[in-house]
Amino acid sequence: LRLVVLISGGGSNLRALLEAAEDPEFPAHVVAVGADRPADGFEHAERYGIPTFDVSPTAFPDRDAWGEELLRQIRVWQPDLVILSGFMRLLPAGVVDALSPNLINTHPAYLPEFPGAHAVRDAIQAGVPESGASVIVVDDGVDTGPVLAQRRVPVLPTDTQATLHDRIKVVERELLLDVVVGVATGRIDLREWVRA
Ligand code: GRF
Repeated sequence: LRLVVLISGGGSNLRALLEAAEDPEFPAHVVAVGADRPADGFEHAERYGIPTFDVSPTAFPDRDAWGEELLRQIRVWQPDLVILSGFMRLLPAGVVDALSPNLINTHPAYLPEFPGAHAVRDAIQAGVPESGASVIVVDDGVDTGPVLAQRRVPVLPTDTQATLHDRIKVVERELLLDVVVGVATGRIDLREWVRA
């Protein structure tokens, strides 16, 4: 399964995918890594000799022009599945429509709890005893797509945003790898989620 991964930050989930794909039995491989900036996580791709591309919104007159270029650059790699993993921008509807349903996102909460860009902070501030991690099919809402996999993660009274996020990321990576294998082996059929 050909994967394009989009990141914005450190790319810890990307690193997990790259490490898993070192096993020739793993049924997926990352063919390119994209970002909305020269992301720190590009270092993981570079270490594996995997091409990277960054499409910065500031280089475009508007979101749709940015989205068109991002979509064009994604399509160059002919991915079977596009993974948003720490990609901190909302994709224009045209991009989602073009890629759906082969477009998934990892989120550090138990959706529909705590959607949006501050899920871990929000869980800490809410004082909940547990949060979670989720992998969803991207639709044109904010973290509103159908859940492919999710698992609860405990919140400890001593947790900071960083300690909770690290604990969540461990689960997030496991869920992401499981979903990628599921799609690659046909256990998960994303065509179920083609939007009417
Ligand atoms: C991940 O938890 C992702 O779900 C969230 O931001 C974090 C990015 O982490 N959107 P990394 O860049 O993969 O380390």
